[in-house]
Amino acid sequence: MSSSNPRQGSVLHPRGIAVVVESEEDRLVEESRQLIHLLGDSEENPHHILYFGKRGIELKTPEHIHHNGKRVDFSTIDFRTGAGNLSKNQPLPKAIGEHTTLVDATAGFGMDAARLAMMGYHVIAIEQSPIISAMLRDGLWRAEQNTEVREALGGRLTIIESNSTQHLQNIQCVEVVYIDPMFPPKRKKSALPPGHIQVLQSVVGYDNPEQTRLLFKVALTAATRRVVVKRPMHAPPMTTNPIATHNGKLVRYEVYRPTPHTK
Ligand SMILES: C[S@@+](CC[C@H](N)C(=O)[O-])C[C@H]1O[C@@H](n2cnc3c(N)ncnc32)[C@H](O)[C@@H]1O
Repeated sequence: MSSSNPRQGSVLHPRGIAVVVESEEDRLVEESRQLIHLLGDSEENPHHILYFGKRGIELKTPEHIHHNGKRVDFSTIDFRTGAGNLSKNQPLPKAIGEHTTLVDATAGFGMDAARLAMMGYHVIAIEQSPIISAMLRDGLWRAEQNTEVREALGGRLTIIESNSTQHLQNIQCVEVVYIDPMFPPKRKKSALPPGHIQVLQSVVGYDNPEQTRLLFKVALTAATRRVVVKRPMHAPPMTTNPIATHNGKLVRYEVYRPTPHTK
């Protein structure tokens, strides 16, 4: 797959992803057309297949083309009333606080964004990768076909394909901006089978610290209440002055006060 000709405001993708379409569903055919137009459709030795089929859009490895792949599936979230993973006592909602509107500036597979929407926040989730954005739109479409998931989301999740650093400069009245950048590569290769984040890394690559810093700077001017940054436990703080830190098991959420608004 060629990575030339990227859509404006999106990212180049590492080579090695081929598109396979085995669906006649209009919305999927249209998504696949747009991606093939953007990225090209031939790849000799792909490390991943972006597969359009009856389960929606999935990322698969070529060896497992006949197995289910990774897709965005918000129905896997336990959204029953009182479910622990929607408790506001967790570190992320504690870091966000009682504010109601937020931009998830690094949507990824949208799990944080969907959980936050299910908790009652109004979430605009922005993703710069056209591949991941297509998977997000597919996941939200399927969520809306399922009455329970649709009701749990309550129409509070919006997905935007864009680069947040640019998009946040034109957005108004957002209380909180949440940033969850990709982590840097580990020095030691993990022996664990590829999980969520490894699959994401194969498509979008690793953190670019310079771009994350720029995004953070823009977020400080766009948010009216807080900027929340997720960091690995071992990483140094984003800057020296978080106003609070909420620790999870493997990550922590740093809270920053936005730059005062002059408008
Ligand atoms: C670690 S993942 C986020 C995972 C997400 N919180 C979840 O729950 O699935 C980071 C994502 O942010 C995206 N990203 C990084 N910088 C971005 C930017 N400036 N604008 C939009 N998306 C960005 C990457 O493409 C990647 O998909």
